Amino acid sequence: MDRRPRVLSGIQPTAASFHLGNYLGAVRQWVEMQDAYDAFYCVVDLHAITVEYSPAELRRRTRRAAAQLLAAGLDPERCTVFVQSHVPQHTELTWMLQCLTGMGEASRMTQFKDKSQRYGESAASVGLLTYPILQAADILLYHADYVPVGVDQKQHLELTRDLAQRFNHRFGETLTLPNPYIMQAVQKITDLQEPTAKMSKSSSSPGGILDVLEEPSSLRKKIMRAVTDTGTEIKADEENKPGVTNLLQILSALSGTSVPDLEKRYEGQGYGTFKKDVAEAVVEAFAPIRERTEKLLADEAELDRLLVEGAVRARAVAAETVAVVKDRMGFLPQG
Ligand code: TYM
Repeated sequence: MDRRPRVLSGIQPTAASFHLGNYLGAVRQWVEMQDAYDAFYCVVDLHAITVEYSPAELRRRTRRAAAQLLAAGLDPERCTVFVQSHVPQHTELTWMLQCLTGMGEASRMTQFKDKSQRYGESAASVGLLTYPILQAADILLYHADYVPVGVDQKQHLELTRDLAQRFNHRFGETLTLPNPYIMQAVQKITDLQEPTAKMSKSSSSPGGILDVLEEPSSLRKKIMRAVTDTGTEIKADEENKPGVTNLLQILSALSGTSVPDLEKRYEGQGYGTFKKDVAEAVVEAFAPIRERTEKLLADEAELDRLLVEGAVRARAVAAETVAVVKDRMGFLPQG
């Protein structure tokens, strides 16, 4: 048996491209973790249907998401990359966990509150309410020790731990309690136009978001137009200079130079040079991913084959967990 600690994480195929927040807050860590950990990464297509969507777009975006993960450096020989809907145990375990979740507990989740407010309480689907329980199932099926995510997922991970604990208390030690793996420096990349809000597929304006698959000229333009502040100093100060702080964090994460060292380097220089350097660092990081994504998408059959292989590996683990869960919960064996 593989004795490395287990990792699982997921990403929604809700846009044509991942953005810089997804990349720095999650995907880059996934790539780094694939050797030291027994890693499972999935494109969570079932989560993507909790809000309005188009079937043709979902299919296209699921492939694009998988291609971007591989292009960013996930290697199917070293980790398991799969699509959530290919592993039916995710929905099966969700049902069991739903029966352990309180209505109040589910409706307190901030992502549900935000989205149901945006779409209107009555337009919000039951799927949106139970979304975090599906996420808990994603994690608990694989006995994940760590879950690399951005800070916006913290509340969902707390629910996951609560549900695992509740299950174990009621039915005996079965599920592993996962730990969030959140890199403080990149836990919340913010919107370039509204630097106190997180960069987000669903709420950022086009000028506020940097897409992994975006043209270099457009990336450069957006960074040069990023909101800073009226001062001239390049200094991290989240309260008074959220825009500059965000750019410093981005450049630090991409260049490997610490924020204090960057502050020293840009002392006495204007925002122009600094922004140009941020833009070049982003373009340099994204260009090879974009190129590889295009190549991977050019051979859909091969991409689909890799995903089927990943699903076979994931299903083996998930099926074992569900069998134990069902037994503990009192369901009859299937023979
Ligand atoms: P999603 O698809 O919105 O985002 C994928 C990952 O990107 C991180 N992220 C950010 N990190 C830093 N700064 C930002 N501005 C930023 N925006 C997004 C997210 O924290 C996430 O790690 N519910 C999850 C998907 C999910 C999942 C799971 C995650 C489903 N099942 C199981 C982990 C484990 C979501 O909506 O992520």
